Amino acid sequence: MTQNKKIPIILDGDPGHDDAIAWVFAQGCGLFDILAVTSVGGNQTIEKTSYNSLRVCTLIGLHAPFARGCYHPLNTEQMNAPTVHGESGLDGPALPEPDFAPEPISGIELWARVIRDCPEKVTIVSTGPLTNTAAFLMAHPELKDRIERISLMGGGLLFGNWTPAAEFNILVDPEAAKIVFESGVPILMAGIDVTEKALIKPADFERIRALNNPVSDIVWQWLEFFYQFHKTMGYEGAPMHDPCAVMVLVHPEIFTIRDFYVQIETCGDYCKGATIPDWNGILGFPPNASCLMDLDRETFVDYLIDAIKAFGEVGK
Ligand code: BDR
Ligand code: CA
Repeated sequence: MTQNKKIPIILDGDPGHDDAIAWVFAQGCGLFDILAVTSVGGNQTIEKTSYNSLRVCTLIGLHAPFARGCYHPLNTEQMNAPTVHGESGLDGPALPEPDFAPEPISGIELWARVIRDCPEKVTIVSTGPLTNTAAFLMAHPELKDRIERISLMGGGLLFGNWTPAAEFNILVDPEAAKIVFESGVPILMAGIDVTEKALIKPADFERIRALNNPVSDIVWQWLEFFYQFHKTMGYEGAPMHDPCAVMVLVHPEIFTIRDFYVQIETCGDYCKGATIPDWNGILGFPPNASCLMDLDRETFVDYLIDAIKAFGEVGK
């Protein structure tokens, strides 16, 4: 895809190994104007994901304004994923300490500021629970039309990964997801239907290691860590859930995408957090989400590696 103009985005996530690699791609590919970064509780507590966000931004030289997001999900207890990402939320190689401080405002206030100030509509890239996105939409309905779209990692059309019905990010804050999916803002949904196919395999780790720059040195170790957990569950590589939500914005041609009207289940004994597509158009509502279904894995990995290569160049 040829593109001259950078896409203005806000990165919102809960790093997390795959969030971190998504941000590496966003910074390294050079195709985004990253206006702000915010953290959300998910893979770990908000304290830990905020610290990890600052460390990742420091590593990749991303000095966009950063602010901490919401303290807890809208209407449910916080849930974390230490089995997947470790006690720190980003276990593995040592990272640099933050070389900049958070803004003294909330993540929601930061979004409002940068969205107001940006002459173009802004894309939100959400790679954690949708708490901040929903809170922003409730707090600033007047800015809803200034959002170009929400590209999110979350959900699954056919199955879950945390329960049989629910994917982790949606399960952590289903009420927030419901608000977002019902908001009318265009949604790009990278659910596990596609992200579990976005595997970086051990042979690819070696290609990344061979780049031998300060970011590649960390990324291949993150991949090793992430893969060790997933290997025990039968995966052939490390699933790059969150990078899909970033890459689709600049390389949509490598994905298969299908529009659906998607509803969010917020309660229930078995299906809390499920994302339910109206496969057969039974409800007759127009689609509210463009859902990623499949991808060209090899090209996905090549693009990711190209972006990591850029950190060997001057100025990154
Ligand atoms: C999602 O949950 C988290 O563990 C990952 O960072 C990703 O955002 C996958 O279900
Ligand atoms: Ca995440």
